[in-house]
Amino acid sequence: MAEAAAKPVAVDERGGKMKAELGGVVVLDFGGQYTQLIARRIREQQVFSSILPCTVSLEEIQKLEPIGIVLSGGPSSVYDADAPKCDPKVLALGIPVLGICYGMQWITHVLGGTVEKAERREYGRAHLKVDCAGGPESSELFTGAPATLRIWNSHGDHVRSLPGGFRATAHTENAVAALEDPQRKIYATQFHVEVKHTERGTELLQNFLFRVCKAEPTWSGAAFIEETTAAIREKVGNKWAICALSGGVDSTVAAVLVHKAIGNHLTNIFVNTGLLRKNEFENTLEMLRDRLKLHVIGVDASDRFLAQLKGITDPEEKRRRIGREFIAVFAEEAQKLQAGEAHGEIGYLVQGTLYPDVIESVSVKGPSATIKTHHNVGGLPEKMPFALIEPLRDLFKDEVRRIGKDLGLPAEVLVKHPFPGPGLAVRLLGEVTCTQLVTLQEADAIVVEEIRRAGLYEKIWQAFAILLPVRSVGVMGDFRTYGLTVVVRVVESDDAMTADWVKLPGDVLERISTRIVNEVPGVTRVVYDVSSKPPSTIEWE
Ligand code: XMP
Repeated sequence: MAEAAAKPVAVDERGGKMKAELGGVVVLDFGGQYTQLIARRIREQQVFSSILPCTVSLEEIQKLEPIGIVLSGGPSSVYDADAPKCDPKVLALGIPVLGICYGMQWITHVLGGTVEKAERREYGRAHLKVDCAGGPESSELFTGAPATLRIWNSHGDHVRSLPGGFRATAHTENAVAALEDPQRKIYATQFHVEVKHTERGTELLQNFLFRVCKAEPTWSGAAFIEETTAAIREKVGNKWAICALSGGVDSTVAAVLVHKAIGNHLTNIFVNTGLLRKNEFENTLEMLRDRLKLHVIGVDASDRFLAQLKGITDPEEKRRRIGREFIAVFAEEAQKLQAGEAHGEIGYLVQGTLYPDVIESVSVKGPSATIKTHHNVGGLPEKMPFALIEPLRDLFKDEVRRIGKDLGLPAEVLVKHPFPGPGLAVRLLGEVTCTQLVTLQEADAIVVEEIRRAGLYEKIWQAFAILLPVRSVGVMGDFRTYGLTVVVRVVESDDAMTADWVKLPGDVLERISTRIVNEVPGVTRVVYDVSSKPPSTIEWE
């Protein structure tokens, strides 16, 4: 690997253009908080959509053969020195454009209209009056809309005068709220059609997609699977691919998709860090091999990880060491494969990166800051000369679960709770020792078992145990005990960005507590974590 690692990294940032990604709608991101939501709302209409930074070149956009372009919102003013811009030629491609919020202001600005600071900023709900001459039906965008609507705004600037050729089609009491030039197929709304608070927002988006862009609602899980696997097959050719598989939803769906495309030219590597949950290594290996028929190399590297963690108590240092060791183990296995006779040249690394992982991909800071991948497995591609295959990089977790369902993955994989890469090491405060790991695994298994028994597992985001190096006095039988503390953490969340602690029924808490103290040696006390995120995080380290 050392020799290979010295070569320049040949990372294909977008994992190659999948055919499934062609002919959809491109969302150009100006840094808006709802950009992801726009892409998702379009896919909900069964039209494929992906996000590109606004700084992307015209050629990159054209390569995707889009049938429509959406310009997102953003926090800037068009007059800011570092205001995000895209190539104004996107407005002259003849491809329908919908500008939303900042997108509308940018269109106005570059086409010769004026934008100014609003005297009254508009945040939150507002009343919209549709006032296109001839009524709503005279505008493709507002077809079917009533004359007034409750909409949702979030802007400090507004349009004062329209660019030539444009007409205003709606306003609020303070400002122009929609404009269009149907000749050039350019439409824009100052309000956010993508948020649920905007009444009829979905219909307006549908009008843009189906009336203006003439989209066909053909994008579905089945189409995605078929087209993605065909594209992967073509891209990989007769090379081989490897995948760091963890048994979680994302990496498993990615591996099954790639396996469907290239069969045993995909080798999966599943590393036992020793920091997994009770029996997880064995159970997951069995499921991946026997039920999903994947080719998986299971590597038990527990001793190496434990050795790395000896004497380490600082949470960040733990994470760093685990990440480093993971890369070392994975690289050694890849090198063995490369050197082995059964394998041809490994050209690709499969990752289950999801859209929310691609945080920096939506950077608007300039071409140098375009797609930058968040690496699920601690920076692997930077160390290896493989191109990436990331078939899920435009999707959200629930979309991945649906694809996984269409691929026939067992429910137990699809509903599995997220588990951090550094595993139990970030749930075991202080030094990680073998004895404490076993204690935590036992307590954690009880928490999950009781949550399942109560029928709550699929309704919540995560349920797990944390082991604290805090001793307290107890009494068992006639003896004094002096044991450790287990924290029970159960949270609900949509995306892990925010989370609420779950108000578990008393009897469930009671069973968890009684069982842990009785069944797990060395624990005398169980406490329940009642902190939400923010200000706390979900994991303890
Ligand atoms: P926090 O603790 O930041 O966690 O609120 C948010 C979500 O991310 C998971 N998590 C990780 N997942 N590698 C991962 O793949 C990690 O290093 C990692 N750290 C936290 C956590 O379980 C929660 O769902």
